[in-house]
Amino acid sequence: MLKIINVVGARPNFMKVAPIVEAMKRREREFTPLLVHTGQHYDADMSDAFFRDLDLPAPDIHLGVGSAPREQQLAAIAERFEPVIAREKPDWVIVVGDVNSTLACARAANKLGVRVAHVEAGLRSYDSSMPEEANRVETDRIADLLFTPSAGAGENLLAEGIASERIRLVGNIMIDSLKKHLERAQQSQIKGNLGLSNKDYAVLTLHRPANVDEPKAFQQILDALEEISRRLPIVFPLHPRTRKNISRFDLSERVKSLSGLRMIEPLGYLDFLSLYSEARLVLTDSGGIQEETTVLGIPCLTLRENTERPITVTLGTNKIVGTDTATIVSEAFAALDSVPKPPVPIPLWDGHTAERIVDILAL
Ligand code: UD1
Repeated sequence: MLKIINVVGARPNFMKVAPIVEAMKRREREFTPLLVHTGQHYDADMSDAFFRDLDLPAPDIHLGVGSAPREQQLAAIAERFEPVIAREKPDWVIVVGDVNSTLACARAANKLGVRVAHVEAGLRSYDSSMPEEANRVETDRIADLLFTPSAGAGENLLAEGIASERIRLVGNIMIDSLKKHLERAQQSQIKGNLGLSNKDYAVLTLHRPANVDEPKAFQQILDALEEISRRLPIVFPLHPRTRKNISRFDLSERVKSLSGLRMIEPLGYLDFLSLYSEARLVLTDSGGIQEETTVLGIPCLTLRENTERPITVTLGTNKIVGTDTATIVSEAFAALDSVPKPPVPIPLWDGHTAERIVDILAL
C-alpha cells in the first residue's frame, strides 16, 4: 500500500491533480491518496468552484497560506507542509505544474527525505524572468521521478544532465480532465447568460506579471483589444491580479469604454471550458490554455514572447505574438479570416495520463 500526498495550491493545479486522485481511488488496495491544499489561491472562484466542477474531494489538509511575495510564500508553504510530511510519512509527494506551491512542497519533501514526483516536468521557456521557469527548473532538479507531457520535455531534462531513469513520458495530465468533462461542459448556461448565441466571439485571459504588472505592456494589449473588439465581442474573465492592476493603473475608464470587451468574474472549470471550446479565437498569456485550445483545434494567440509549450506551436493551433499592438491585431484578423485547421492528435494527450502515472508509481 502506497501513501501518497497530492499537492494543490493554485487554479491551474486542480485539473491536473483531479484525474490522479481519481485513478488512485480506483485502486484503493494499492494507494491511499491524501490531498493537501496550500491555500495559495483561496477565493471561491479561484479554488472551491474547481473542486465542485472536477469532483475533487475536499482537501484532507489545508495549509491556509494565502498570498505573499514569492520568497515569503515559498518559505511559508514549506514551513507549514513539513510537519504534515513528518506526521503522515507518505511514500511519495506528488506536485504538478509550475506554481509556487509546486516548488515549495517539493523542497519540503526533499528536505525530509520523502520521494517527490513532478507531473508536467521538463517544460522550459528559457525565460528566467518568469517565476514559473525558476519553479520548474528547481522542482525538476529535486524530484526523484519526472513525468513529462511530451518528448521535447524529456529532451530538455536530458540536456540539463538529468538521468534518463528519472524521466517517464506519460502525456498531458490536463487533457485527462478536458476529455472527461467536455461533454458535461456543453450543458453550461454560460453562453446564454452572456447573451452569446453563436460562435462569433473571442475569449481573453490575461494575468502574467509581465503583461498586467507593467503599464506599458498592458496599454499595448488594450490598444489591440480595442481594434479586435470592433469586429467581434471579446469575453474577458478577470483574474484577481489583473482586476487589481486595472484600478492601480487607473485603467478602469479605459476598459469600460471598450464596448466589445465583456469583463466578467473568473469562471469555474466547466463554464470556462464551455466558453473557449466554442470560441472562434482565444487570446491568452496562460500556459495551459495553449494546450487546451490545441487539443480542441481552436485558434490561439499567445500574448507572450515565448512559450514553454512549443509543441502547441509546431503541431497545434498556437501562435506566439508578443505584446506589440499591430502584431496582435494583424494576427487576430488573419486567424479570423482563415478556416481553422482540424486538430492534430498529439501523442499521449489522450485522456489516459493518470493511469500511466499510477501504473508507474505502483511498480
Ligand atoms: C499564479 C501562478 C501562475 C498561474 C496563476 C494562475 C506562481 C508564481 N504563479 O499566479 O503560474 O498561472 O497562479 O492563476 O505561482 N489573489 C486573490 N485571490 C486568490 C489568489 C490570488 O485575490 O485566490 C490575488 C492576490 O492579490 C495575489 C495576486 O492575486 O497577490 C496574485 O496571486 P499569486 O498566487 O501570487 O499569483 P498569480 O498571479 O495568481
